[in-house]
Amino acid sequence: MKTVLSGIRPTGNLHLGNYYGAMINFLKMQEENECFFFIADWHALTTHFDPKLLNVNITNLLSEFLACGLSPEKATIYIQSDVPEIAELYLLLTMLAYMGELEKTVSFKEKARQNPDNVNAGLFTYPVLMATDILIHNADYVPVGKDQEQHLEMTRNYAKRFNHRYGVEYFKQPEAYNFGQELIKIPGLDGSGKMGKSEGNCIYLIDDPKTIEKKVKAALTDNGPEAPNTPKPDYIENLFTLLKVVSTPEVVAHYDNLWNAGETKWYGNLKKQLAEDIIKVTTPIRERINAIKNDTAYLHKVRKEGAEKARVSAGKTLRDVREIMGFKSL
Ligand code: TRP
Repeated sequence: MKTVLSGIRPTGNLHLGNYYGAMINFLKMQEENECFFFIADWHALTTHFDPKLLNVNITNLLSEFLACGLSPEKATIYIQSDVPEIAELYLLLTMLAYMGELEKTVSFKEKARQNPDNVNAGLFTYPVLMATDILIHNADYVPVGKDQEQHLEMTRNYAKRFNHRYGVEYFKQPEAYNFGQELIKIPGLDGSGKMGKSEGNCIYLIDDPKTIEKKVKAALTDNGPEAPNTPKPDYIENLFTLLKVVSTPEVVAHYDNLWNAGETKWYGNLKKQLAEDIIKVTTPIRERINAIKNDTAYLHKVRKEGAEKARVSAGKTLRDVREIMGFKSL
């Protein structure tokens, strides 16, 4: 049994891209592995620091995890800040992280450019905290997107450096979890290749049907194909990609044929169909999110039990690491 771990920052609601890119795969992962799914709220603090909003975002994301089918029985679901062992291991690992490496991190340079007034040390050491998240459970695999690969590489470096410095074989070298072909990339509705929070082109799992209809209706199109059998421009290809994910093959073939025949004036119908099929997917999830969000007792129980389980695993690692580094416990 392999240990797999993934964290998501609570900086907004989950969208279709998160659902098809992450959540659906997590459901399969939790059947076959020992999984840790957590809410990286300390990481969120590097860029988002409104206390009220942080709390709302955490509750929402936990509700969304559960509504998508992440199971507290099958996996360990927790909130990063509920596990103080992470903070201590993070302190210890900062001693293995070199300034020069951190300065070269792409994500740091990007965030520093975007927010020149808030280049805080937490942002600087973000990769160390992420490495801690992974190493504290000695995870074998981490499902990461392209933008997180460098962080995983740094995690391996810290693991190696720790083992080398202390002459042990303690930490494993965590690898990217490979979903293989199953990984679906959800495009944006604005012609861009990726649905993303910061791109502002998302359909959220909590969007109601009216909102979804409006967003899909506003998706970028044109006057239709100029001739039969022309290649589709990216923004039209995007609509077909979405359709392939939520509709039947017959529906996709129908619109594909219209495109290839060079017909025009069917985008309206395609969008209506697309909206309808997205709504079909999201409605049961939305209903579960809203039910769970209001069930304070259940959320509390999940959070408490998740933290307890995570602390057992994290506590063991921390005790070992202290010992290896020369700290004798009281
Ligand atoms: N940095 C990740 C992101 O922005 C979130 C994250 C924090 C994470 N700790 C992690 C992901 C550990 C995987 C493993 O998406």
